[in-house]
Amino acid sequence: MKINKICCIGAGYVGGPTMAVIAKKNPNIEVTIVDINAERIAAWNDEDVSKLPIYEPGLAEIVAETRGRNLFFSTEIDKAIKESEMIFISVNTPTKTYGKGKGMAADLKYVELCARNIAEVATTDKIVVEKSTLPVRTAQAIKSILHNTGSDVNFEILSNPEFLAEGTAIQDLLHPDRVLIGGESESAIESLANIYGSWVNQDKILRTNVWSSELSKLTANAFLAQRISSINAISELCEHTEADVTEVARAIGMDSRIGSKFLNASIGFGGSCFQKDILNLVYIARSYGLNAVADYWEQVIILNDHQKRRFSDNLISALYNTVSGKKIAMLGWAFKKDTNDTRESAAIYVADHLLSEQANIAVYDPKVPAKKVYADLNYLETRSDSKNKDLVSTYNDPYDAVKDAHAIAIMTEWDEFKSYNWKRIFDSMKKPAFIFDGRNILDKNEIEKIGFEYSSIGK
Ligand code: UDX
Ligand code: UDX
Repeated sequence: MKINKICCIGAGYVGGPTMAVIAKKNPNIEVTIVDINAERIAAWNDEDVSKLPIYEPGLAEIVAETRGRNLFFSTEIDKAIKESEMIFISVNTPTKTYGKGKGMAADLKYVELCARNIAEVATTDKIVVEKSTLPVRTAQAIKSILHNTGSDVNFEILSNPEFLAEGTAIQDLLHPDRVLIGGESESAIESLANIYGSWVNQDKILRTNVWSSELSKLTANAFLAQRISSINAISELCEHTEADVTEVARAIGMDSRIGSKFLNASIGFGGSCFQKDILNLVYIARSYGLNAVADYWEQVIILNDHQKRRFSDNLISALYNTVSGKKIAMLGWAFKKDTNDTRESAAIYVADHLLSEQANIAVYDPKVPAKKVYADLNYLETRSDSKNKDLVSTYNDPYDAVKDAHAIAIMTEWDEFKSYNWKRIFDSMKKPAFIFDGRNILDKNEIEKIGFEYSSIGK
């Protein structure tokens, strides 16, 4: 099938950047991104591209180039579905917060709603592409909804999981390690492979069956997260043995069988995918009665929770076992640098723990607005919104955030933190002035020379 028009349901962190790059590289294809959230669509359409709802290096430039040419943002979902030959489903699939599988299984209600919406309004044949990360066998449900419409419209279902990482989304999309397309119909697979083929070498475009494709996404994320939990487990051992986790990571990473990437010890991984996808894997394994498999992967999450907790416990014990009434400045709130996304950020959990110990928290993040900080804390339902507002303050200037603080906790590895005037910061803080570097980004010798009490991860 020759594709002239594409529609993507879901203008989020995945749908937005992915479609922008597809539009850039395929000027002859009209790409429309639709979303039920009118405010988000309005932000995508804002004339000032610095106001896009998502911050990703390089994204604003591509949107400026393609928007209005062959990239469109709209709330007219039915119209876009009707007119397109290919429809991407890129809505969120959060962990269920209710009912069966609560806290473990993926909530597929939005995906199902999309499938029903497509089934209802389509009058011509469509290729439906799963872009959202989904538990293996979800395509079966989509298929069954689409194939029981009673009309003679033909639907082909493809799984095309996204491997981009936030903060590097545009580079990852432009230069992917591989593109994965799972499906039954060869012609549908080739229609999508052609679209990627305008900038990705064909030998990097992998064709598999739908189930392998769905499971590969979960597995890739589980393996990546497992590396972080593995190095974080070793970081704790380092702290007791005078080994240095950075040295250990370098030493093992030079073994080409192990490889050097994703071995940065940290306060624990965050983000919208790792925890959710592993929980999914665990839930699916358990539902097949594969308890040993489920326990194996669950340990990656347990270790991650332990790492976050360990960070706040260490901070409290260094501050003479109490943080009550003390000002703790948190630098960074996003789950990693170069994004304004905060989903599952370790900062949220560390802050929550410190707040339960009655600390006052001052937050500075270069890209995360105050209202997101409060929304993240309120979502945990540990205390009321007004209590969170009492105890947490947010700042637009890092030097204000750290003034009179007893301690600084570095939560995100933003580059700008490295070039701060740390002497000036030291002078404005309460003494002894503590730094807890959850990302190992500062130079220990220089920082200690200034006079700070410095601790980092795994050293
Ligand atoms: C992505 C992936 O799609 C998901 O599978 C992955 O596991 C997490 O990341 P993301 O793009 O980051 O999701 O999610 P989000 O930024 O929340 O965007 C989803 C968008 O879909 C939202 O803007 C939401 O308004 C929209 N949506 C949701 C719809 O348009 N219709 C719905 O029925 C539900
Ligand atoms: C991840 C996958 O990398 C991507 O392929 C998939 O499509 C979506 O999930 P993302 O969550 O955007 O991407 O970011 P990623 O760079 O993987 O980082 C996840 C978390 O792990 C962050 O909190 C990061 O700080 C942490 N991390 C990463 C470490 O703690 N140490 C590392 O060595 C690497």
